[in-house]
Amino acid sequence: MTKEQQKTTHFGFQTVNEGEKAGMVHGVFSRVASKYDIMNDLMSVGIHRIWKDAMMDWLAPRPGQKLLDVAGGTGDVAFRFLARAPGAEATVCDMTESMLIEGQKRAEAEDLADRLTWVVGDAMALPFADSSFDVYTISFGIRNVTRIADALREAFRVLRPGGRLLVLEFSQIPNPALQWAYDRYSFNVIPVMGQIVANDRESYQYLVESIRKFPTQEVFATMIREAGFGQVSYRNLSLGIAALHSGWKI
Ligand SMILES: C[S@@+](CC[C@H](N)C(=O)[O-])C[C@H]1O[C@@H](n2cnc3c(N)ncnc32)[C@H](O)[C@@H]1O
Repeated sequence: MTKEQQKTTHFGFQTVNEGEKAGMVHGVFSRVASKYDIMNDLMSVGIHRIWKDAMMDWLAPRPGQKLLDVAGGTGDVAFRFLARAPGAEATVCDMTESMLIEGQKRAEAEDLADRLTWVVGDAMALPFADSSFDVYTISFGIRNVTRIADALREAFRVLRPGGRLLVLEFSQIPNPALQWAYDRYSFNVIPVMGQIVANDRESYQYLVESIRKFPTQEVFATMIREAGFGQVSYRNLSLGIAALHSGWKI
């Protein structure tokens, strides 16, 4: 048995060997890919769009920039970035090919295909050269990654000096009453919605459990600093249901 197989991690509330997690996450997103966009709108009653717009407001994309959107799935963040930055280019990297295929269909429909590159790859070992992007984004992706610290180190490596990291992720709600209400909604409603719309209760059960396993805003900000980033800060969205984290490769 290799060292990696012996170490354990979490997959939602289950404890699994580190070596197994990526395959399980890949299974989840392969199964939900064709229903991913509609489920996002339903589960969040469209609020994920407001959060992604808030991400772009803070990022303020500039003409000609090169974006790498990791765990980019069906391309939501890359599309928004390109809409705000004339002449910019975006690379969407994700380990689940079927998510990228859904994104490519959307890019063709929105006439953005020539400004986008789609790459199958792992956030923990990015298939890109050092210092090759101006901006690195990851939206609702990093909590699924087996070793978050490795993904952050890779983000630092592929950014050019002066480049920007922006992470959008579900977070921990500082108000216990709101956390209680949110838990009731997410554990009782979302898996049922997944069953009805995507015929897949289990995948959505994993998705809500994985939210509760993600570190607090302060702990995650420390992890970003430990990967080498400077001027690290965060903003809560919707009272902490999600949060945006920013850092610079100085
Ligand atoms: C919840 S989706 C987010 C998609 C998109 N960024 C969005 O905000 O709508 C999470 C994505 O992370 C991808 N993913 C999970 N672990 C990954 C890893 N280690 N490397 C690359 N992609 C990963 C999954 O394949 C999936 O497409």
